[in-house]
Amino acid sequence: MATNINLDDILTRYPEEEASLIEILHDIQAAHRHLPRETMKTVAEYTGVPLSRVTAVATFYSAFSFEPKGETVIKICMGTACHVKGANLIKGEAERKLGIKAGQTTKDGKFTLEVVNCVGACAMAPLVIQNEQYYGKFKPVDLDKLLRTGE
Ligand code: FES
Repeated sequence: MATNINLDDILTRYPEEEASLIEILHDIQAAHRHLPRETMKTVAEYTGVPLSRVTAVATFYSAFSFEPKGETVIKICMGTACHVKGANLIKGEAERKLGIKAGQTTKDGKFTLEVVNCVGACAMAPLVIQNEQYYGKFKPVDLDKLLRTGE
């Protein structure tokens, strides 16, 4: 297999059944920061889920990606409350500093920049999420620390 994850190690953690699908995909995504397409057939066979459905599930959930993500994933909420409080400015500044557009990953693989819809934390608007850590009342200037530490 043309990948550096040990797929067997992941598969054997779960029973060979359909109910294991999401957790297996999560583990592959976590191990490799994306879902290598060549692993999908094996996952389909293991869980007994048709390949077309495995692909559909992997495409549907934003937590999954067929493209490698950066070590640090920065998500900017573009929901109404965050938008009103300047999310667009944060997005523009992040794109400028990273030299990429939202939805892209830096060439060195360090950062992925994404925009998300409201995540239900509007009281913290504007909100930026870095690797699942929430940062509320965010200002464009706060990006410097986020991008410097990558933490
Ligand atoms: S609009 Fe950003 S958390 Fe709700």
